[in-house]
Amino acid sequence: MTEPAHGDTHIRMLISQERIAQRTEELAREVREGLGDGPITCIGVLKGSFIFMADFVRALGGPVRCEFLGVSSYHGGTRSTGVVRITEDLRHPIEGQHCLLIEDIVDTGLTLDYLTHFLAQRKPASIQTVALLDKPAHREVEICASHVGFTIPDEFVVGYGLDLGELYRNLPFIGVYSP
Ligand code: IMP
Repeated sequence: MTEPAHGDTHIRMLISQERIAQRTEELAREVREGLGDGPITCIGVLKGSFIFMADFVRALGGPVRCEFLGVSSYHGGTRSTGVVRITEDLRHPIEGQHCLLIEDIVDTGLTLDYLTHFLAQRKPASIQTVALLDKPAHREVEICASHVGFTIPDEFVVGYGLDLGELYRNLPFIGVYSP
């Protein structure tokens, strides 16, 4: 892999912009094949999913509602605290709607597990989950997203929405951060 042109030597490219774009189209097709042409309520988990969600909902096409859940589970470091806290709730009811929870990455699985239970209480018609990245090395609950973009090794990744201490979200690719 060539060194990306971002000027930070701590970051090595893992997944290029082109591969992300191609996989996003495939995931969107997969979801539409399963759910049909009707309305889908996409629920992005902030902040990490915001860039993936923007591309994903455009690839999805058809009637789409966009909602967001603010969640805090990391506090500026590279380790999960295991504590999931809702910092911003949905703005509208989702009862009777086909919902798609959009995550940037599943690591321990605690966030995904917590949020699927949290959303189930709102009585949607169905809940599926899509995660751009799956990092199974440190799973603490047996859970997997319904649709996964890429399974990655046990490395801390940044870019395309994912941060380290709120930085690097704007990188157009996924890179491995190693200090
Ligand atoms: P989990 O609850 O451990 O599955 O973690 C989910 C959240 O942790 C993700 O939505 C990310 O915000 C964050 N996270 C986990 N691994 C990474 C990583 O490698 N880079 C950046 N954020 C991460």
